[in-house]
Amino acid sequence: MESTLDRFQLKEKVAIITGAARDLGFDAACALAEAGASVVITSRVLDKAEQAAKKIADRFGTEAIGLELDHTDWQKVQQVVNQTLEWKNRIDILINNAGGGSGMGECNLFKRDPKAIAALIESNLIGPILMCKAVGEIMIRQKSGKIINIASIAAMVGRDRDMYHRNNKNEQPIDYAAAKGGVISMTRDLAALMAPFGVCVNAISPGGFDKGELPKAFVQDYSQETMLGRMGKLDQDLNGIILFLASPASDYVTAQNIIVDGGFTFSK
Ligand SMILES: NC(=O)c1ccc[n+]([C@@H]2O[C@H](COP(=O)([O-])OP(=O)(O)OC[C@H]3O[C@@H](n4cnc5c(N)ncnc54)[C@H](O)[C@@H]3O)[C@@H](O)[C@H]2O)c1
Repeated sequence: MESTLDRFQLKEKVAIITGAARDLGFDAACALAEAGASVVITSRVLDKAEQAAKKIADRFGTEAIGLELDHTDWQKVQQVVNQTLEWKNRIDILINNAGGGSGMGECNLFKRDPKAIAALIESNLIGPILMCKAVGEIMIRQKSGKIINIASIAAMVGRDRDMYHRNNKNEQPIDYAAAKGGVISMTRDLAALMAPFGVCVNAISPGGFDKGELPKAFVQDYSQETMLGRMGKLDQDLNGIILFLASPASDYVTAQNIIVDGGFTFSK
């Protein structure tokens, strides 16, 4: 009989993780590789993708390749899917991680450049939809698969902008909230579309992670707004939920949005 721990194994599985050369995407790739998956690391910069893939292969003894991808470019998306199929002839897991960029440039809606609004929605919503379109078709053919879309708590709460302003940090623009809300809605409807083909589709909404670049005072202020009194930690706080949703352990879980925020969203 298969044990509970066996159901977290990913041997023979093939995963694509977008924007995985660093930070949360890299963590997600590590979690899958540690469980035995062969991983495709994508980045807009090929060299960075290849370096991250080598790091992962060396660390976990699994197979990993790096591919160049701008996930808003439909031709490039199709190319990466074809390259993955040439490599392993299947795709079991898609982690739609690429996106972010929420605090870049002028973020106040009333001063924000409309082009920046469109670009942010393109990389955080259109790109993930294109990835689901290309990879989803393969999964339907295989009659199995796991899609995990990285959303954000920005989709669920109005922000305390004062916390950002008093710590000299750019606030999150409302188009980021809109894009991530779209990711969660897309996840639910795609789950319904793909359930008859044995494909599970879920979202993860991280809260703020401290990647080492944030002002100390901001980290303190933000931490106080969480129930657990801290921001998320890299190489730790996202890994478990990624592995769960990517593995057979979660075969009866679909259309969900799992919030990983130390209790921020439901605090006060
Ligand atoms: N860090 C956080 O606190 C946090 C919180 C909630 C949600 N998120 C989400 O988690 C994901 C990863 O966040 P992160 O903090 O690791 O971000 P990051 O900026 O460190 O990494 C995101 C990656 O996506 C890539 N990317 C952006 N646009 C792209 C495009 N058009 N084509 C290809 N690649 C593109 C970037 O180059 C980068 O490598 C993002 O979707 C982000 O919105 C992050």
